[in-house]
Amino acid sequence: MNSIQDFNSKIKRVVISKEEIAEAIQKAGKEIDRIYDGRPILLVSILKGAFVFMADLCRAVSVPCEIGFMCAKSYYSGTVSSGVVQITMDLEQDVSQYHVVIVEDIVDTGRTLNDVVELLKGRNPLSLHVFTLLDKPSRRVVDFKADYSLFTIPDLFVIGYGLDCGEYYRNLPYIAEYDNQA
Ligand code: IMP
Ligand code: MG
Repeated sequence: MNSIQDFNSKIKRVVISKEEIAEAIQKAGKEIDRIYDGRPILLVSILKGAFVFMADLCRAVSVPCEIGFMCAKSYYSGTVSSGVVQITMDLEQDVSQYHVVIVEDIVDTGRTLNDVVELLKGRNPLSLHVFTLLDKPSRRVVDFKADYSLFTIPDLFVIGYGLDCGEYYRNLPYIAEYDNQA
């Protein structure tokens, strides 16, 4: 990163505006309220990418909700998943006591969420749903489908609203395409 100009020139174009995100989050919050119908839930954000989405989504739900965080890394040998998820920070809650909603930034190959869902299912939650902000179905390597995705996008590398490139750009209030050539 040589200059602020270099930094900004990588933001190619806005793919999803902050207004579009805000509207979609209101709808997703209503869907959570509909599914749980007054029952308390645990929203689980997968760090780091989903921290911004979590902050907005939790304010769009009306059912009683607790929040939890977990940091997960999956390891692969070549393109084949070892099936091992390293939890670099585990949830503090015992999920067997909760209706769990996983809050994720993006489903790309599907490997991370596939592993996280298997892990949490093994802990016998009362129920489990996955809400993802973005879905890139064309990149899927494992057969994984979120219960709800706010936006489906083509095979682009995107930044902003929690998503990073080299840890930068998470604070952009919109989702943009990252320019690899600039
Ligand atoms: P998956 O395991 O391949 O589905 O991808 C999981 C993680 O890869 C996501 O949680 C993101 O952190 C990261 N990722 C995938 N696509 C993008 C992107 O377009 N921009 C930024 N991060 C991405
Ligand atoms: Mg992530």
